[in-house]
Amino acid sequence: MKKSIFFVLSTFVATTALATTPISLPTPQQRIGMDLMEALQQRQSIRNFSSDSLSYQELSDVLWAAFGINRPETGKRTAPSAMNRQEIQIYAALASGLYRYDASGHQLIKVSDKDIRSDTGRQDWVAQAPLNLIYVSDFSQLDRGDDTAKKLISSTNAGFIGQNVYLYCAAAGLATVVRGGFDEQMLAKSMQLPEHMKIILTQTVGHRASASNP
Ligand SMILES: Cc1cc2nc3c(=O)[nH]c(=O)nc-3n(C[C@H](O)[C@H](O)[C@H](O)COP(=O)(O)O)c2cc1C
Repeated sequence: MKKSIFFVLSTFVATTALATTPISLPTPQQRIGMDLMEALQQRQSIRNFSSDSLSYQELSDVLWAAFGINRPETGKRTAPSAMNRQEIQIYAALASGLYRYDASGHQLIKVSDKDIRSDTGRQDWVAQAPLNLIYVSDFSQLDRGDDTAKKLISSTNAGFIGQNVYLYCAAAGLATVVRGGFDEQMLAKSMQLPEHMKIILTQTVGHRASASNP
């Protein structure tokens, strides 16, 4: 009897450990063949997504561009943040589940097996696009001001991240649109966020379905 309980427990622990093994992302590319001024020319919101998944390289590049570490000696990032608080956490809603981007390890940590893409917005294509980024502010890292002030700072910081994603997508030929249209309560529940974690913005990323209808 004791032996079988041990077997069940050890199998459970092994399965849990396997499910939560972080996805180590490839090194971000240093060049993708379009210069900054051309990427600015191309930057636009595109809402016409195919369901094709992104490659690990594209996932790596978009997350690093968004808010990766570009100066390992200081741990500073590709986007600025007020007083370098780095309070924005990026979550990635993929078909295979919900992940948190760990910038220091440049890896994705699975937080849920559930596909919550349809909960990330009110527009129907969010469920079909391969990646929905969710920018969440950890208010516990902001010690000054009330919640309104914290939201203002976090929205500003998330805006820089969103623009980094726009520019990367323009240069990489991917489609993206930043989105404020989502049901905050429902999404927070779906993500099982604690009270101090506030959703600021979402951003859909994927391959463009066709050249028409941006
Ligand atoms: C804070 C913010 C929230 C937005 N929310 C949405 C949204 O919920 N859904 C959407 O389709 N586009 C959304 N957009 C994209 C804008 O509609 C888009 O940027 C605008 O129409 C200008 O088009 P452009 O990005 O191609 O220049 C949002 C943009 C910003 C900056």
